[in-house]
Amino acid sequence: ATRRPAARGDMAGGHRLLLENAQQVVMVCARGERFLARDALHSLAVLEGASLVVGTDGFIKAIGRADAIQTLFSEETFEERIDCSGKCILPGLVDAHTHPVWAGERVHEFAMKLAGATYMEIHQAGGGINFTVEHTRQASEEELFCSLQQRLQCMMRAGTTLVECKSGYGLNLETELKMLRVIERARRQGPIGISATYCGAHSVPKGKTATEAADEIINNHLPKLKELGSRGEIHVDNIDVFCEKGVFDLNSTRRILQSGKDLGLQINFHGDELHPMKAAELGAELGAQAISHLEEVSDEGIAAMATARSSAVLLPTTAYMLRLKQPRARKMLDEGVIVALGSDFNPNAYCLSMPMVMHLACVNMRMSMPEALAAATINAAYALGKSHTHGSLEVGKQGDLIIINSSRWEHLIYQFGGHHELIEYVIAKGKVI
Ligand code: NIG
Ligand code: FE
Repeated sequence: ATRRPAARGDMAGGHRLLLENAQQVVMVCARGERFLARDALHSLAVLEGASLVVGTDGFIKAIGRADAIQTLFSEETFEERIDCSGKCILPGLVDAHTHPVWAGERVHEFAMKLAGATYMEIHQAGGGINFTVEHTRQASEEELFCSLQQRLQCMMRAGTTLVECKSGYGLNLETELKMLRVIERARRQGPIGISATYCGAHSVPKGKTATEAADEIINNHLPKLKELGSRGEIHVDNIDVFCEKGVFDLNSTRRILQSGKDLGLQINFHGDELHPMKAAELGAELGAQAISHLEEVSDEGIAAMATARSSAVLLPTTAYMLRLKQPRARKMLDEGVIVALGSDFNPNAYCLSMPMVMHLACVNMRMSMPEALAAATINAAYALGKSHTHGSLEVGKQGDLIIINSSRWEHLIYQFGGHHELIEYVIAKGKVI
């Protein structure tokens, strides 16, 4: 057996997990970098013939050459050991953008899009987000929680150990809170790590203007979130707005994001997707941690994001599904923007797999495999403000990692599908899940 539980009683003072003698351990970065940009992306930190130790606290205790680890830990006990000969160890993947809490099928809209309808045509006809809002308002909290759990399970099987989860299919306070409670419950339950995003400005509710919707969010939703946060009931990390022509204009977007920032939330929003909105410029000005989509970002917006260190969360599934023009990943990378990736899982882009996302990023957005892996690990963790604890395999970081049954790490990206067989173990905080 390659996976050996140690005898009980053996564990006192020992360690949680020993991963022995991997062909490659892809640390991604090795000097405490909080993100990788420019030249740092060309050669990720990779050890050959290496082992890794996770402590009982779930954090990485040691990484190094297999013989050195063997000598150092020869007297130690472990709860579990896995022989990784011929396999690769990589950081758990980080999905920096998802909408995983919703009810109601939209497969019929996929058929409409295949027949030529655009995203905005469907949205303006009452479909799209509004369709999902109606169904999510009607769904029970339990139903939403069960479907979220299934989706998170599926993400974990594809290697994701940290994921951003948005609300945004409620729009009214009652349903937004219902969604955030569901996300909170999943976060407490684990084992997947969750960064929670309040996205009450995902669409303008029927009968309201964007300005009225922004007022409602600023005057009613955000104070309630603050109250629930201070009582320790719901923890929200990020604030999001869908800044788009016909949805939230630049001024409403600015007001909402600034109010969220004033409450201590990280700014992480949808911008410059279908029309150039100067969202990137606004995000950089407000100190956004992340801006997603950016298919229509301007040159000035790219330069401003690089300077402000606002990361770009690129979503290859959206451009693919909607046949949009691709975001200019190469230009962003060349200008020094911190590029991250997300699945954008939602009823429009039904994708739960970061390996598929990395593959699309390489083929359609012309990223290299090291760039894509960094974007789905350390840089995605940066987009969530968590790259001090997540996103690379370094001593002191959380023991979130995957073991793939291949002697070359690039197989995780090269392969188009079939990842459930390739990914042999997914480990969160040192525990096999
Ligand atoms: O990121 N663009 C806005 N929001 C989602 C789509 C949500 C939906 O269509 O339900 C996105 O692609
Ligand atoms: Fe989105």
